[in-house]
Amino acid sequence: MDLRSSSENEPPVIVRPSRDGDVEAMLSIYRRHIRLGVDEGVSDSDMPQADDLRDRRKNLKNRRFPHLVATRNGDVLGYAYVVLFRKRPAYRYTVKHSIYIHHDHVGHGIGRALMRELIDVCAAAGFRQIIGYIDSDNVASLALHERFGFARVGLLPGVAFRHGGWSDTVMVQRSLATGATTPPPAGGR
Ligand SMILES: CC(C)(COP(=O)(O)OP(=O)(O)OC[C@H]1O[C@@H](n2cnc3c(N)ncnc32)[C@H](O)[C@@H]1OP(=O)(O)O)[C@@H](O)C(=O)NCCC(=O)NCCS
Repeated sequence: MDLRSSSENEPPVIVRPSRDGDVEAMLSIYRRHIRLGVDEGVSDSDMPQADDLRDRRKNLKNRRFPHLVATRNGDVLGYAYVVLFRKRPAYRYTVKHSIYIHHDHVGHGIGRALMRELIDVCAAAGFRQIIGYIDSDNVASLALHERFGFARVGLLPGVAFRHGGWSDTVMVQRSLATGATTPPPAGGR
């Protein structure tokens, strides 16, 4: 549980592990960002369904992968989670994250509170590297990741077709805990 107040007269943002009851709120946040991501009308059938998020969340939680929501007054205003960067056992200490804030609540410090907690919880869970993929024109997300010490480690030119044009994706990475400076504990993840 992490309590931070983004501005004096606003109730605090509480970051906590997600619950099954949060799925509908997460779904509407996610769908809105998908619709904004591409301008071609994404049909409802192509949109992720509640069960998709519900199953993914349950699967991640069962495997002790952080899955967090940020709330204010009990309303879910954002969520963030990690999956394995690659399934092969050698990569079991490296995760890839996603973070989404409700479009009416961006720019109010909720992304900051969520990212802070996600990094701390992933480090505590024994992960050593965290990776993200960000659209090259996503100024807010690039700035957020820079603020948390993510380095730009790669560029994937022309991998996305959105708004009628090809666009690049930036790969960002930061280490967690001791990163690659010490071996993982015996019997680690
Ligand atoms: C990217 C996103 C998660 C940022 O969350 P947010 O709650 O809006 O960000 P915050 O208000 O906590 O701002 C955190 C930092 O991000 C940066 N930032 C946020 N919005 C910004 C903007 N519009 N322009 C420039 N920098 C911005 C600032 O550095 C800010 O830190 P500071 O104010 O402490 O200096 C949010 O805008 C979002 O969900 N976007 C759509 C989905 C998405 O792109 N997810 C990321 C995919 S990788």
